[in-house]
Amino acid sequence: MLHQDIERILFTEDELRTRVAEMGAQIDQDYVDRKPLLISVLRGSFIFMADLVRSITRPCTVDFMAVSSYGAGVTSSGQVKIVKDLTEQIEGKDIIVVEDILDSGNTLHYLLQILQARHPASIRLCTLLDKPSRRIKPVEADYSGFSIPDEFVVGYGLDYAEQYRNLPYIGILKPCVYQK
Ligand code: PRP
Repeated sequence: MLHQDIERILFTEDELRTRVAEMGAQIDQDYVDRKPLLISVLRGSFIFMADLVRSITRPCTVDFMAVSSYGAGVTSSGQVKIVKDLTEQIEGKDIIVVEDILDSGNTLHYLLQILQARHPASIRLCTLLDKPSRRIKPVEADYSGFSIPDEFVVGYGLDYAEQYRNLPYIGILKPCVYQK
């Protein structure tokens, strides 16, 4: 069972539901006369994205992008690769980049530059989790669900070696799992 590898639960399903609903309500307020395009950065953000868009009540559209930076390790390599690009053109659009976690900032720093070069009308960053103590690149989220300490977290889309994404809560992984 995946649960046995969890040291403690950081955010329960209820806590996640409440916070994601608040974030959706904030986006509703901020985009009154605009129709944002939400861009989910795969794979980690897929569950957050699914819940976030359902808590937005105004018209919006979605697109997906896949990048890879961690491989099977636990720390960012600084190497970012676009694995899947957007389907939509973003020029002139109000885009919101949706991430599961902002850590060193390497991924987002690179990605935001690429997206900015395509001339969207506006670009904002929405992350469920933020680890400010780990930041290497100067990236700040416009919408941030929770600020967290430097622990290895999994669940609700976040993985270790592609596992644990399906846990319905966010938990801290037991170090013995990745120190083998
Ligand atoms: C995670 C997360 C961000 C990135 C953040 O992705 O989704 O994209 O790491 O880390 P950084 O701020 O140090 O760059 P990951 O590479 O683990 O891929 P995944 O989304 O497929 O799990």
